[in-house]
Amino acid sequence: PRRDDWVLQPLYQYQGFWYFQDYLIGLLAAQENFKPQPSDIVICTYPKTGTTWLKALAYTIVTRSRFSDSENPLLIKAPHDCVPFFEIDAARNTSNRDPQVPLVATHIPYTSLPTSISESGCKLVYLCRDPKDVLISMWHFLRGKLPEGIDKDTYINLNNSFEIFCEGIASNGPYWDHVSGYWKASVESPEKVLFLVYEDLKKDTVSIVRKLAEFMGYPFTPEEETRGVVQEIVELCSFDSLKNLKANTSGVYSPDSPYTIRNTEFFRKGTTGDWKNYFNEEMAARLDQIIEEKLNGSGFSFLSR
Ligand code: A3P
Repeated sequence: PRRDDWVLQPLYQYQGFWYFQDYLIGLLAAQENFKPQPSDIVICTYPKTGTTWLKALAYTIVTRSRFSDSENPLLIKAPHDCVPFFEIDAARNTSNRDPQVPLVATHIPYTSLPTSISESGCKLVYLCRDPKDVLISMWHFLRGKLPEGIDKDTYINLNNSFEIFCEGIASNGPYWDHVSGYWKASVESPEKVLFLVYEDLKKDTVSIVRKLAEFMGYPFTPEEETRGVVQEIVELCSFDSLKNLKANTSGVYSPDSPYTIRNTEFFRKGTTGDWKNYFNEEMAARLDQIIEEKLNGSGFSFLSR
């Protein structure tokens, strides 16, 4: 099935999720050809849930013994170049991986991941976020993609974006199915799948960074704890720090491809609850109710956490 009412490009349905065409080509190529290493860790997210932040944190954690603070590649390379999306590489038949870094990333839902991932025994880290903030973040991002001179409020207005998101029509959506797929996998195999939430990461970044490092097999030593290494990583990867690094104030992600995005576009506000500046109470309650109903029975809830 195809939907033409989604903004910017038509969406195609595949294995229960919606994708724009170029992305779907990459997903299919990855299902066919992607070959992870057993030691790889896959950063899995739905778009706009904090992917860039999680990539920066995971990258700094796993490479910290290779680079001193002043040599950290994050200072000169954008997080998306440090940890490439394997489906975007697959679409272009390239590999932007540094073979010494055991990290790759994906927006593919759990149930559509290449079977090579479960066969290889890779670990997965999933990050999700309050759906209301995901929608607002995506709405801003897509509006930024409209060509100059086009009336943003006609093409991508909040009401339409809200309605189709509630129907589950969104790139890599329905969001609730993306979340519940990884949630269930994390319950079934907690040693393989770590499930994280953006709001928790914001609230207590240090504790979650410790948990992330341990899960990935790169725990902080007592000596590193004494030196304050965890706090340094948290600080380097904080919104204000990352946003202002030279690597992120210029340059583009995935040049010469349908996915070209200016690095600055990955940094907007970086807060929790920005939806309150856009939704009225009725909208917020409606989206919350839809998500709760859809997640009902999965054991995960955004509201009762
Ligand atoms: P907002 O639009 O709400 O500001 P993704 O990386 O998955 O595309 O998600 C982008 C969202 O994460 C944006 O949210 C962006 O501002 C936020 N973000 C980027 N870097 C961040 C950081 N270091 N800490 C917290 N949020 C960050």
